[in-house]
Amino acid sequence: MEKEIRALKAEKNAVIMAHNYQPPEIQALADVVGDSLELAVKAKETAADLIVVCGVRFMAETAKILNSARKVVIPVEDAGCPLADFLTPDMIREARRRHPDAAVVVYVNSTAESKALADITCTSANAVRVVASLPNDTILFGPDANLAAYVQRELPEKTIIPLPPGGHCYVHTGFTLADVEAARKKGGTIVCHPECPPEVQMQADLIASTGGMVRGAAAGGEEPWWVFTEREMASRLRVLYPGRIFYEKPEAVCADMKKISLEDLRRALESGEHEVVLPPEVMDRARRAIERMIAVGA
Ligand code: 13P
Ligand code: SF4
Repeated sequence: MEKEIRALKAEKNAVIMAHNYQPPEIQALADVVGDSLELAVKAKETAADLIVVCGVRFMAETAKILNSARKVVIPVEDAGCPLADFLTPDMIREARRRHPDAAVVVYVNSTAESKALADITCTSANAVRVVASLPNDTILFGPDANLAAYVQRELPEKTIIPLPPGGHCYVHTGFTLADVEAARKKGGTIVCHPECPPEVQMQADLIASTGGMVRGAAAGGEEPWWVFTEREMASRLRVLYPGRIFYEKPEAVCADMKKISLEDLRRALESGEHEVVLPPEVMDRARRAIERMIAVGA
């Protein structure tokens, strides 16, 4: 199967992009493995004819928006992100009416339609930098309320309004103070994604995007590492840093990230399914918000 995938990839002049939460066998075949921001930047730059995004839908949509001349496919059509579904375009319109002076910052874990209504997007790698770059005192920020709380702690001079108030990722809200306590008893470093609940974030040694975790691990720190995010991140870190100790939480599984198999990837390369198609006007408006984010940097 691996051989077939490599041959098809060459034949179709394709690039395979995989998020850090993808199954290890998919990551092993990918040309690019990274966090949401890294995948977006690489998708914008690639000259490949076909971009296969192994991740969830918003990641494939972002790739399409940034490089719309290319064909972009997602191997499993219904690989979504439940967090993205918390924020609707109507919520954004209504919040803008109530807060006309506020800027709207939309996390990339969102639909293309929501991004099209944003002033700027952000990822977990650059959320603080993005908000700090804006002149507005009030920021409407969605859909992740825990990431909003993190940005608020880092930038107390701003007023961050979460949109909606309870938007969350079920994988990350599964981390609790009991996990912190259990890790602390054994020692080491706790690294936590900003989608985790604020009380957990505040006890962590490092709060980072999944790409930030890769960079943070390169810098060292007391072992073992307790990796408070989707459990595949620990296997990614073990591949990158063999011999080091990284612990995952076995229950922290993003079901949608696990939908893509090698057979799905092979089929996607062969058939060119499932192609991401978005209305041009939505792509144009969303592209402005995403490119503005990329210009701010990580
Ligand atoms: P990262 O951008 O940190 O990889 O996060 C994406 C995501 O879906 C987190 O759950
Ligand atoms: Fe969405 Fe959570 Fe899965 Fe990330 S881990 S893709 S935020 S559901």
